Amino acid sequence: MKLLPSLRTLLFFIAALSLAAACAAPTGLRAPDVPYEPSAPQVVQTMIELAGIRPGELVFDLGCGDGRVVIAAVRERDARGVCIDIDPRRIEEARANAARAGIADRIQFINQDLFEVDLRRADVVMLFLWPQVNLKLRPKLRAELKPGARVVSHWHDMGDWTPDRTVRMTLDGRERAIYLWTLR
Ligand SMILES: C[S@@+](CC[C@H](N)C(=O)[O-])C[C@H]1O[C@@H](n2cnc3c(N)ncnc32)[C@H](O)[C@@H]1O
Repeated sequence: MKLLPSLRTLLFFIAALSLAAACAAPTGLRAPDVPYEPSAPQVVQTMIELAGIRPGELVFDLGCGDGRVVIAAVRERDARGVCIDIDPRRIEEARANAARAGIADRIQFINQDLFEVDLRRADVVMLFLWPQVNLKLRPKLRAELKPGARVVSHWHDMGDWTPDRTVRMTLDGRERAIYLWTLR
């Protein structure tokens, strides 16, 4: 009989700990594949130009950081956007930046693993990830993107996918490439 109250206490503590853990990691998502590093403004402009974004097109940034690429596409090309990041702090920053720019209603903000997002609606997919993440993403891009959709990647290529165009620039003394592929 004496065991019952202590069992209840134990269960109470387990429930409290679970609740605390859920509050500490509200999304329950895993660690990012790539750390945050924002694209420089010149890179953002080049990505937008390479993608050839038309008014009304839907631009995804897989790992959007503070939202700068999508925000620029929406402001400068009258596009619509989807900002996806696994880190909830980045999504909050992106949302705040879009609100400050007065365009938050044209952008969807998704705190999710980019490998789990449905890409079928995308006209353009922007990437600034790491080489192995780009490679891992290739089957998903092939399976989900519609013909004519464009993929633009800052810095890293897609292995043996031949880009339609490559722009090279030097930033802080290091050469950077920005690649464009069009899905057939
Ligand atoms: C190098 S930053 C690029 C930020 C932004 N796209 C830019 O060009 O300024 C990479 C971003 O990807 C996010 N990220 C990393 N792994 C991710 C994953 N599996 N799903 C969604 N976002 C991810 C990181 O949190 C980070 O914000």
